[in-house]
Amino acid sequence: MKYSDLIQFEPIETVVQLREADSARDARRLVETFVISDRMAEVLCDVVFPQLQFSKPADNKGILVVGNYGTGKSHLMAVISAVAESEDLRALLNNQRAAAGATQIAGRFRVIRAEIGSTTMSLRDIICSVLEDGLGRLGVAYEFPATGDRHENKTAFQEMLASFQSVHPDQGLALVVDELLDYLRSRKDQELSLDLSFLRELGEVCKGTRFRFVAGVQESLFDNPRFQFVADTLRRVKDRFEQVRIARDDVAFVVAGRS
Ligand SMILES: Nc1ncnc2c1ncn2[C@@H]1O[C@H](COP(=O)(O)OP(=O)(O)O)[C@@H](O)[C@H]1O
Ligand SMILES: [Mg+2]
Repeated sequence: MKYSDLIQFEPIETVVQLREADSARDARRLVETFVISDRMAEVLCDVVFPQLQFSKPADNKGILVVGNYGTGKSHLMAVISAVAESEDLRALLNNQRAAAGATQIAGRFRVIRAEIGSTTMSLRDIICSVLEDGLGRLGVAYEFPATGDRHENKTAFQEMLASFQSVHPDQGLALVVDELLDYLRSRKDQELSLDLSFLRELGEVCKGTRFRFVAGVQESLFDNPRFQFVADTLRRVKDRFEQVRIARDDVAFVVAGRS
């Protein structure tokens, strides 16, 4: 017997890349290793699953996962998106309440994951190109109109969703984006204002459609002093998003669970 058979040690320092969950094997490992505290189960069942589900009419919004570096945002988004994509991963969730609550979303979605790196593209162009690529992989051919062709984006999203729904009639489409705040922080004032308006539109599209948007941010956008010059825009974004905060006690729980 090898030493590694006796001890399973996965150092907590490693960072999870959201896109690891694109691979079925890694998605399974990420679900199996994710420790879910009772508080986290409550947040999942009270906020995340009800917002994501589309079988009951609701005032669906976008979701922002908020937590400092290393608190587990990417891991959490990987887990949520993996279960949304594959029904059989639901039962592997390490918390009974969460596993039961996840029934309403498990296997109901096609998922597109992206991490925003350093770029000077607008948020709209990033999201539209990520969606076009991801939809292509899902067998859906759709091209967004060029920037500037329309005065708003919601109708294009509705057309995109109609194309998606014609290929995947029973599924929802979940777009999960990591490192959103780092990107927004790099934007100049006028660009930022347009990006935030687009973010509001993304949140608005979730209402009445099967499109869902989840993003990871290191701190809340809404009390960030850097963004206060667009306070009105920000308030309108806030109206269309639910925030899920990862608290320190969740991290303590993980560490305790592993020692
Ligand atoms: N609830 C959890 N259960 C198991 N591991 C966790 C949990 N939360 C965080 N981790 C681990 O902590 C590390 C940091 O998590 P990560 O998702 O990369 O953080 P963030 O994206 O917030 O910077 C990773 O190794 C991850 O697997
Ligand atoms: Mg991360």
